[in-house]
Amino acid sequence: MEVAVIGAGYVGLVTAAGLARLGHTVRLAESDELRLAMLTKGESPIYEPGLQELLSEVIQSGALSLFSSNLDAVRGAAVVVIAVPTPQSASGAADTTIVEQVVSDIAPHLDLGAVIALKSTTPTDSFTRLQETLDHHSKGGHLVINPEFLREGAAVADFLKPDRIVLGVASDGAVERMTSLYADLGAPLVVTDPVSAGIIKYAANAFLATRISFANAIANVCEAVGANVRDVLLGMGFDRRIGFHFLDPGPGFGGSCLPKDTQALVALADEGGYDFALLRGVIDVNQQQMARVLSKVRRALNGSVAGRTVGVWGLAFKAGTDDVRESPAVWVAKELANEGAVVLAYDPRARVVDDGITQVGSALDAVRDADALVILTEWDEFQTVSLGELRTTMRGRVVVDARNLLDPEAVRRHGFTYLGVGR
Ligand code: UGA
Repeated sequence: MEVAVIGAGYVGLVTAAGLARLGHTVRLAESDELRLAMLTKGESPIYEPGLQELLSEVIQSGALSLFSSNLDAVRGAAVVVIAVPTPQSASGAADTTIVEQVVSDIAPHLDLGAVIALKSTTPTDSFTRLQETLDHHSKGGHLVINPEFLREGAAVADFLKPDRIVLGVASDGAVERMTSLYADLGAPLVVTDPVSAGIIKYAANAFLATRISFANAIANVCEAVGANVRDVLLGMGFDRRIGFHFLDPGPGFGGSCLPKDTQALVALADEGGYDFALLRGVIDVNQQQMARVLSKVRRALNGSVAGRTVGVWGLAFKAGTDDVRESPAVWVAKELANEGAVVLAYDPRARVVDDGITQVGSALDAVRDADALVILTEWDEFQTVSLGELRTTMRGRVVVDARNLLDPEAVRRHGFTYLGVGR
């Protein structure tokens, strides 16, 4: 099938490469010159496991081609996938300006009966407006809400093996084409109305966020009463109705999706007259969770970090990605610097530009003469650092493990004060 993808962010890029791998002819449009230049050379502008290899393969075979103009990309396309940003507006709701602009620009250039699949997460009332724009400017295109469920760090694998595909449609016109677009993936299909499709996306992310905040809250209870959250979650998780996924306590959820989508769903509910107090609580717990990491470091250093050297392991919002958007790790590192600490940070992939944070090239360099170490992202390589070397490299003896990554007993045996999350 001839497919156009608008936007080469992580969703658009992975979707374009994935659709090309499925045998479709994909034309990908990207307006950012730097990004496009890298892609034209066959280089992935983001780190995502397996993406570089997949891109090289589909660009070389000619299945994926690149364009700077949306109009060039959509000509002759049976399906146009839109994956442009919907940033958070002042009210917390998603801002759809870019999506609306793209739809009105491309509409006159679409083939009769073309399907527009919207991956960007948009408020539920935007469907009617976008379909009207499409009807007004095109020869008759169909709009489909087609939310994505890709996780950063596992996006290629998630695309090729999705748990489900959701299609929100106002009429049956587009269903057959969308079904054949994804046929080879063999995933269960949920076909519903556009508003419900939008809510599925928000509800799924809000539920995941709720699990994380719940696990964090239970970890805090464990700290208060002297229980071990690992054992508590193990004992809970064997109940098949609960399970083990997405219940790892940590420094709080971050990234470009969970924080934004939870806020957006609260705002959406509010507009409809429903106070989503539960979800507001989830967001509150998350904010407190980041602050708790900071207060653990402060407490372990006798009340203040000013003038002390703190080594930070991890800046990415989770392992497996170089993304630092809404990263709890970056928040904690910046706050430490604001409170007067000398912050030495190491992350295997992620970079931040911040005057208060000195980035170094290895985990041990980050703890040279440090009074405390804070572990903020769960990269595997942090588990392989020798505790003996950690001891001889650091000046102080404080380890705050905000990811419960290390073995507390082993760390304590090496003479450290170990502070994990809920254990
Ligand atoms: C999330 C969803 O998992 C995807 O299904 C969805 O498609 C995506 O948002 C999106 O809307 O685009 P992602 O933002 O890549 O994916 O990250 P997650 O794996 O969900 O992790 C989010 C945050 O929660 C991270 O900061 C992570 O460290 C944290 N987390 C996750 C925990 O603290 N504990 C856990 O048990 C799991």
